[in-house]
Amino acid sequence: MSNSILVLGSTGKTGKRVAERLQNLQLPIRLGSRNGQPSFNWDEPSNWHEVLTGIQSVYITFQPDLAVPQSIEKIKQFTEIAKQHNVKQLVLLSGRGEKEAEACEQIVIQSGLNWTIIRASWFMQNFSENFLLDSILSNKVVLPTIKALEPFVDADDIADVAVAALTDSKHSNKIYELTGTDLLSFQSTTNQIATALNKPIAYQEIEMYDYVAALQSYQLPEDFIWLVQYLFTEVLDGRNESLSNDIETVLGRKPTSFHEYISKTLKTGIWKVQ
Ligand SMILES: NC(=O)c1ccc[n+]([C@@H]2O[C@H](COP(=O)([O-])OP(=O)(O)OC[C@H]3O[C@@H](n4cnc5c(N)ncnc54)[C@H](OP(=O)(O)O)[C@@H]3O)[C@@H](O)[C@H]2O)c1
Repeated sequence: MSNSILVLGSTGKTGKRVAERLQNLQLPIRLGSRNGQPSFNWDEPSNWHEVLTGIQSVYITFQPDLAVPQSIEKIKQFTEIAKQHNVKQLVLLSGRGEKEAEACEQIVIQSGLNWTIIRASWFMQNFSENFLLDSILSNKVVLPTIKALEPFVDADDIADVAVAALTDSKHSNKIYELTGTDLLSFQSTTNQIATALNKPIAYQEIEMYDYVAALQSYQLPEDFIWLVQYLFTEVLDGRNESLSNDIETVLGRKPTSFHEYISKTLKTGIWKVQ
């Protein structure tokens, strides 16, 4: 396989959507997954040479988040190996308002390769494919106290922008900030889902100290707990309380609204309790 597009996190929220779109366009791709052939694991750099052989472009989704301190070394090493294998283009998924992630963005920007940075807001799909799905299914959302509104963005819109960046050179050397159509509270998004499901979903905010203690009692990994604290205290402080036009600029259409996200997610059956 040569001149392929490598999609990292190809079983994840955005990666699977990017891979599906590229396949529909009949473009050659390699799926970057720990279960892929060859396997890709951010913790096993010795395998990255094999994964990057014959690759022209890479969609990079880092695990668990570009803001964690160890990300800088890994992104640096990955970019170096990509250059050794003659990769031409990197499209990096980053977090909007995550100052710590900008060090990783700079590594990609300074790499000498063509680059696009996609800074995404909180994904709507956190309510249906991740983090908050179990809470929706169990009719109770408990979060740390949140002081800010968030412009939730749809993962399908992120994938459309990523595919545009991977397939059209006019998006090279650009930073895009992706938001949805509205600034929303976590309570109002929960209420909208509850109304659509026609069931009550309790919503409660608690002190961060108590929230962390609850996560620890579930024996969740310390780096995950650090990340949750970082996202809810530092990033959700109001810095992202604004809407961007970048989805419309890239795609020529409005972003998906939370209402539209709910309608299409209802059809998947994912919110039905088995
Ligand atoms: N969620 C949000 O609201 C949000 C907002 C802004 C930015 N982001 C950024 O989005 C990125 C994540 O992208 P995503 O949400 O599309 O992905 P995701 O759904 O979090 O997961 C992507 C995939 O990563 C793979 N993975 C897990 N650990 C791995 C490891 N050690 N090495 C290699 N692969 C590993 C898993 O696939 P396999 O099991 O197949 O290996 C998983 O399916 C993060 O960097 C995050 O900061 C997220």
